[in-house]
Amino acid sequence: MLSSQADLLLTTARLTIAPLSDHDVDAFTGYRQDPDVARYQSWGIDYSRADAERLVDDQRDRHVPSPGNWLQLAVRETSSGGLLGDLALHRLDDQPDTFEVGITLARSSQGQGVASEALIALLDFLFDHEHAHRVVAFCDSRNNPVARLLARAGFRQESRQVDADWFKGEWTTLDGHALLASERDRAHR
Ligand SMILES: CC(C)(COP(=O)(O)OP(=O)(O)OC[C@H]1O[C@@H](n2cnc3c(N)ncnc32)[C@H](O)[C@@H]1OP(=O)(O)O)[C@@H](O)C(=O)NCCC(=O)NCCS
Repeated sequence: MLSSQADLLLTTARLTIAPLSDHDVDAFTGYRQDPDVARYQSWGIDYSRADAERLVDDQRDRHVPSPGNWLQLAVRETSSGGLLGDLALHRLDDQPDTFEVGITLARSSQGQGVASEALIALLDFLFDHEHAHRVVAFCDSRNNPVARLLARAGFRQESRQVDADWFKGEWTTLDGHALLASERDRAHR
């Protein structure tokens, strides 16, 4: 795995992870418009190319985010350069040693271990390089693929807010998952 102080750049056996760029806009818009991909996410299938361009333009800072900010990372297949999905990285404003992560893959890239490979690379970077204390993730309780992914990566479910979120026309239940540096160290031993 590689990282630098400048652009965030991670590599794994199959993947290159770097800030989303202008080149990713078409593929990014394409999978954000897929109803299966958008179902439990904050955007809808009306997500447009202009929305994607704005997102890329708004993140000219390509470093690890400062407190309160987000960075959207492209997950690319190294051999082809194609965009497979993305990771969202948020550094909490009031707890700057805590990061929140989110992950999305195009449907054609799911079921191959790509999300696990990308998420574990990001966790390794956050804990080993950024000395993160805690990494958290939140998801709809019906989103079983992401719950399985987070469990595989070592997260522990620590909260369930029942019918707490009015989302896309219905009350939804929000699960919180977390992984502490100390838990990860124990798991590695
Ligand atoms: C959440 C999401 C990223 C998970 O993707 P995923 O493809 O299931 O996760 P992985 O890439 O780790 O693949 C794991 C699956 O591939 C299988 N697999 C196949 N080859 C594999 C390999 N070489 N290594 C690991 N797993 C492999 C595993 O058995 C596993 O299947 P299972 O979950 O049915 O047991 C994906 O469902 C997604 O993008 N959903 C839409 C967006 C979304 O809701 N994101 C979450 C917001 S909180």
